[in-house]
Amino acid sequence: MALPLRSLTPAPPDPILGLTETFRADTRPEKVNLSVGVYVDDTGVTPVLPSVLEAERRLLEKAGSKGYLPIDGRPGYKKAVRDLVFGPDHEIVESGRSATAQTPGGTGALRVAADFLLQTGSSKTIWLSEPTWPNHPQLFTLAGFALRTYPYLDESGRSVDVGRMLSALRSAVPGDVVLLHGSCHNPSGVDPDTETWAAIAEIVIERELMPVVDFAYQGFGFGLREDADWLAGLARPGLEFLICSSFSKNFALYNERVGALTVVAADSTRASSALSHLKIAIRANYSNPPAHGGDIVETILTDPALRAQWEVDLAGMRTRILGNRASLVKALVAAGIPGNWDPIGRQRGMFALLGLSADQVARLRDEFAVYVVGKGRINVAGLTPANIDHVVAAVKAVIEG
Ligand SMILES: Cc1ncc(COP(=O)(O)O)c(C=O)c1O
Repeated sequence: MALPLRSLTPAPPDPILGLTETFRADTRPEKVNLSVGVYVDDTGVTPVLPSVLEAERRLLEKAGSKGYLPIDGRPGYKKAVRDLVFGPDHEIVESGRSATAQTPGGTGALRVAADFLLQTGSSKTIWLSEPTWPNHPQLFTLAGFALRTYPYLDESGRSVDVGRMLSALRSAVPGDVVLLHGSCHNPSGVDPDTETWAAIAEIVIERELMPVVDFAYQGFGFGLREDADWLAGLARPGLEFLICSSFSKNFALYNERVGALTVVAADSTRASSALSHLKIAIRANYSNPPAHGGDIVETILTDPALRAQWEVDLAGMRTRILGNRASLVKALVAAGIPGNWDPIGRQRGMFALLGLSADQVARLRDEFAVYVVGKGRINVAGLTPANIDHVVAAVKAVIEG
């Protein structure tokens, strides 16, 4: 029997990770990769955080076992994640009305969320922001969802279009799933403010929607608690929702594949039923999660000194990105490139959207060896004193002509 017919036509490379393969093969010495969302320091290296190194040293000394983890992961990890997401004294933690599963990265959490929802009778429609992380549409479509989009940015591409976003969400049918970026919106770096989060929560309640919060950047924006601004609106009695955490970015544990899915239910009985269904989704997908990344995160979060060190490490990444934003805005303005660049300095997280056409993005790559994705999404962390002048000169050339 031959492979199915469609498998013979090559599929397009992944729009982000595929580009990295092209970048690696590029021999031009001035090449700069601003496409993939991985933190790099001023030397272009993705460092292992000091808190992570110390946690690994301790784990090595403990010489644990390589036996399978439970389907939903280690209990200590699950508790540490809930304390981190909600804060340890939060009503959701104290009431026991949430259930967490350890997952392979934030992507694993999103896929388990999708399967869990469809498997338990959810609406098959999910609303995604336009624009969004390109893996969202692919992941939810392959899981079996029909996609709808809500407009997210205004004409300038630099602020949330609150009116259009809310009116699209108002047209959702009760039960529809809505994916919200918890902080550091990917690709724009533009987040709703506190009032907008409150208005989104009102619509979620009024239209009886099912929020899935993609929380891939906790602590990368303003801080660990500040980035959970969305929680105030959603943490209301009776309101149920899902949170997909990733620890790829905030612990710089990209290749360890560590994340979590948390279901918040109306009460603890519903939370434990939800967990039983999560376990089925996980067992059928990858059976049980990898241990090492989760063990690092648990070790750090449950030891006061390591936790304090990690918060310093995280603040270091956040502050450097903010410094890069300021340098970029200064350089774009100094170069006299037409456009309103100031908001890029106020945006948060790893990404900024320059607002370029597909043709301009291609010219950046082909003529200047500067790799960016989509409508000019750049990884701000990838800018260094050594490459910023080349990047800005290239942007100027493609914008001006
Ligand atoms: C918005 C968003 N969600 C989820 C993820 C997935 O993270 P992970 O690498 O932990 O699977 C990413 C990673 O880039 C992301 O940007």
